[in-house]
Amino acid sequence: MKKQILTGIRPTGNLHLGHYFGAGKNYLKYQDDYDFFLEIADVQALTDNFDNPDKVRENVYEITADLLSIGLDPKKVNFFIQSKIPEIAEATVFYSNLVTIARLERNPTVKSEIAQKKELFGNKGESITYGFLGYPVSQAADITIFDGELVPVGEDQLPLLEQCREIVRKFNSIYGTTLKEPKEILSTTTRVKGLDGNEKMGKSLGNAIYLVDDEDTIAKKIMQAKTDTTKIKKDDPADPDKCMVYYYHKLIDSNNLDNICAECKKGARGCVECKKELIKNMNEFLEPIRKEREKYNPELVKEILDEGTKKAQEKAKDTMKRIKEAMKIDY
Ligand code: TRP
Repeated sequence: MKKQILTGIRPTGNLHLGHYFGAGKNYLKYQDDYDFFLEIADVQALTDNFDNPDKVRENVYEITADLLSIGLDPKKVNFFIQSKIPEIAEATVFYSNLVTIARLERNPTVKSEIAQKKELFGNKGESITYGFLGYPVSQAADITIFDGELVPVGEDQLPLLEQCREIVRKFNSIYGTTLKEPKEILSTTTRVKGLDGNEKMGKSLGNAIYLVDDEDTIAKKIMQAKTDTTKIKKDDPADPDKCMVYYYHKLIDSNNLDNICAECKKGARGCVECKKELIKNMNEFLEPIRKEREKYNPELVKEILDEGTKKAQEKAKDTMKRIKEAMKIDY
């Protein structure tokens, strides 16, 4: 039997290059080797977007279409919507007894997200909800309901996995061995930097290249990408390592990379010329993804989610039966 693998993604915006290189590209490898559940985590997205339900709903479909367009095969990957699996919500309630508030407040991922909110929203960021503080418990439910043995994540998610393992151990020690302890598959790609040179590409930072960006948008964005600020004239030598244009040439593995680097260092390559070349290469890189996306009209995306969700529901029922038996609430 194939091993079970589960991961989730919050539907809060379209996929950008950071998602593609940090996560999506790896999923393509996993879909052949594992029994793969991919959760569109709408309930988790609502923990900090509860006042914007339209955004979450729209992005459930958008993000699924994005994931399909990079080549994930709906026959191999079970796409499902978190809110359609009530067992996740049920398990979250049961697990919440096994976690202290202090432990949640110490979770480094939650801590840094709270700090970020304070930075973005000032004092308003201090009104952290019960739901937000508790989302690691809900994520533990996501994973364990599907017997997720392997969980592909980025480094920022490791504290959430550790918290999940703690819950599993506590559950098993009190109620008898019932749940599987998950292991991470850590993404080896480091973060993708933003157009402005920021260490992270992100929607809220406004520095992202999206897989759905059209040719004109790509051109506009790349024309504004940060270059080596010491270079003033076209034939000044520059340091490609301080330039986002070179960084993206490397990321998408442009032709003649060595040449681009050498010319830049010598002052034999103007930034405009270099950007135009990147625009062309980036559009070529995105073209097959755009083509694939055209296949997935909204009806088809809905059908794919419905099918995956049905399979997820079956699995969730089985696990919940075990959980309730163990907790002696199987009336
Ligand atoms: N918290 C994850 C993120 O923000 C998304 C997620 C939800 C997830 N449920 C999950 C990841 C279960 C792994 C396993 O990226």
